[in-house]
Amino acid sequence: MKSQLHSYSSIPAVLVSLLFTLSFIALPCSSSIVTLQQSPPVSGLRIALQHIDSGKSLTKFERIRHALKREKQRRETLKAMLLAGTQISSQVHPTITGLEYVMQVGIGTPPVRYNAVINTGADLIWTQCKPCLNCMKQSTLLFDSEKSSSFSNLSCSSPFCDALQLSLCAIDICTYTYVYNKDTYTRGTMATETFTFGENAKVSDLAFGCGQDNHFFEEDGFGGVMGMGRGMMSLVSQLNVSKFSYCLPSIADDTKSISTLFLGSVPNFSLDSATTKTTYLVKNKIYPSFYYVMLCGISVGDARLDIDEDKFAVNDDGNGGMAIDASTTNTVLEEEAFHRVANEFASQMNATVDDTSSDGYVACFNLHSSVVVPKLVFHFENADIELDNYMINDPRSGKWCLTMAISGDGTSVLGNMQQRNMLVVYDLEKEMVSFVPKRC
Ligand SMILES: *[C@@H]1O[C@H](CO)[C@@H](O)[C@H](O)[C@H]1NC(C)=O
Ligand SMILES: *[C@@H]1O[C@H](CO)[C@@H](O)[C@H](O)[C@H]1NC(C)=O
Ligand SMILES: *[C@@H]1O[C@H](CO)[C@@H](O)[C@H](O)[C@H]1NC(C)=O
Repeated sequence: MKSQLHSYSSIPAVLVSLLFTLSFIALPCSSSIVTLQQSPPVSGLRIALQHIDSGKSLTKFERIRHALKREKQRRETLKAMLLAGTQISSQVHPTITGLEYVMQVGIGTPPVRYNAVINTGADLIWTQCKPCLNCMKQSTLLFDSEKSSSFSNLSCSSPFCDALQLSLCAIDICTYTYVYNKDTYTRGTMATETFTFGENAKVSDLAFGCGQDNHFFEEDGFGGVMGMGRGMMSLVSQLNVSKFSYCLPSIADDTKSISTLFLGSVPNFSLDSATTKTTYLVKNKIYPSFYYVMLCGISVGDARLDIDEDKFAVNDDGNGGMAIDASTTNTVLEEEAFHRVANEFASQMNATVDDTSSDGYVACFNLHSSVVVPKLVFHFENADIELDNYMINDPRSGKWCLTMAISGDGTSVLGNMQQRNMLVVYDLEKEMVSFVPKRC
């Protein structure tokens, strides 16, 4: 395992050039798709993920409300930023900064453990480093490069230094500023280190940010971020894995069970073409980190909603589109689509939409006693996915609320609430994503 992992660490030059020629691949919603073939098993990593609220005794409703609050705050940060006309780094997407799952990694030799939040919407891997000008509260020790024998500063000639928009060179040391949005960024020097995953799976020479001025969400004592996006700096790109996947348990089990992230091979991945749904990944040249897919339409009950397909397409300015994100909790919809969904639920459930709920819900319903909640289907290109967990009862008001929010900038996101009890497989080589029903 060890030696194979070491071989991952060389940086594919091909990837670098590919990244700078990103273009739109607009596929018609009606095209047919080849079923994903199971490739011969290759060794990979299996990483345990913990929900950010694990260990806290919260009810399912409280956890969802927590997540909505976190994400609402972030959307508000975005609004404030747009009003101020701030320039946003194009390496990360301004809207989506949900952070829900945490993995434990070791950094350096000997390894020092820290908790990294998974971010499928950004690329940079970083941790807080000594000496620190501005650090978040961290539940583990800060990384001290002087105590590690495998630490190296990253040279300015490294392609990773080139890839960072806001990088500067100081005596051949690459310094960076990585901006998530106006109030959240990390600043420091780029370096390479040996990372330890699980007990002792080691990967050498991973490029990462040694953050010395970090303004991030100071919530749960985590020590950095594990970027899992599509760009070259992310963990999946640096490991050059052809696939990665995760299986998130039902919401009721969030704080108890450990979710699993697989890098490389997918264990016990038997594809049953009758139940596995596969769709294409779409690229967005402005926000290249995200995993976009093509959403062709939405049905509530048996009614296919009258929404123009363009509402879910990526625009020239990079906004719009439909991304799949494991780090965002609640699904976010483009505004008009959101209202159509809410109104259709109201009409089929003989209820009125109540958007005055105090907990950040934008669509709640006063239901009569014996109403049947219609199913909700997202029609991705070639993959109709019946969603789960889209309606939740607020025990305080007794209302039923959609666990969905309106997008601030037109970009829709399939959040992790709707990715439960399935293996979500990202095939980076074939540029496809598959949904395999599974108890996680
Ligand atoms: C990355 O992976 C692809 C396919 O899995 C392979 O063809 C390529 O040689 C790999 N690159 C490196 C640098 O390992
Ligand atoms: C990395 O750069 C810093 C700042 O210049 C320096 O103090 C440190 O010794 C360097 N570390 C290594 C391993 O070269
Ligand atoms: C819808 O609700 C109203 C009361 O709000 C009731 O009078 C009516 O019978 C209901 N219709 C159906 C089809 O349930």
